[in-house]
Amino acid sequence: MNEAYYVGYSTVHKLVKALANQVVASNYTADVIVAIGSGGFIPARILKTFIDLPIYAVGISYYDSQKRHEGRPKKIQWIEEAQKLLKGKRLLLIDEVDDTRMTLNYCITELLKSKPLEIVVLVLHNKLKKKEAQFPDQITRYFAAQEIEDVWIKYPWDAQDIDSHTNKEHQMHTTYKEQHT
Ligand code: G4P
Ligand code: MG
Repeated sequence: MNEAYYVGYSTVHKLVKALANQVVASNYTADVIVAIGSGGFIPARILKTFIDLPIYAVGISYYDSQKRHEGRPKKIQWIEEAQKLLKGKRLLLIDEVDDTRMTLNYCITELLKSKPLEIVVLVLHNKLKKKEAQFPDQITRYFAAQEIEDVWIKYPWDAQDIDSHTNKEHQMHTTYKEQHT
């Protein structure tokens, strides 16, 4: 399957709910949500519906202004007084996708400098592929709502025409069901 994989808002909401349930089931009582923008912003807000905590946002970019891969992720925005806010705290770090793991790993490394007590990593989708970075040893809990092969995922917030996006998601599931029954 080389086509794009369409994910609608309703699916995103359900995936986040599943993540929240996993966090609760693992007996993790977090203090704050940290969203990795921009893909993690909308998932973070939905997570707050199920686990009501303050959201801090960070911006990491892998691309420069000409959309060229720079080879390493860079901070474009960070938490003001991170040390004061995060030291000794339990974090729920959320992003939309675990792809190469480079951005996630960079973000975790930077957050660890503020000496949080624990960081639990949440993603909607984990792509089953060889990762270019490994999580630091401090990461003992990681939850992915869905594991997926290495395809391009189309998230609803990127859609120019959300009705067409929603239709494509439904078509995709219908085709899958027809092929597997
Ligand atoms: P990772 O640590 O989370 O695995 O991220 P990685 O550095 O590999 O990803 C580089 C960028 O590519 C990230 O965007 C990530 O969200 C995006 N990306 C990777 N795979 C997909 C996919 O299948 N679909 C979509 N829509 N995006 C994907 P970024 O630089 O963080 O920008 P932003 O889009 O979050 O603002
Ligand atoms: Mg992202």
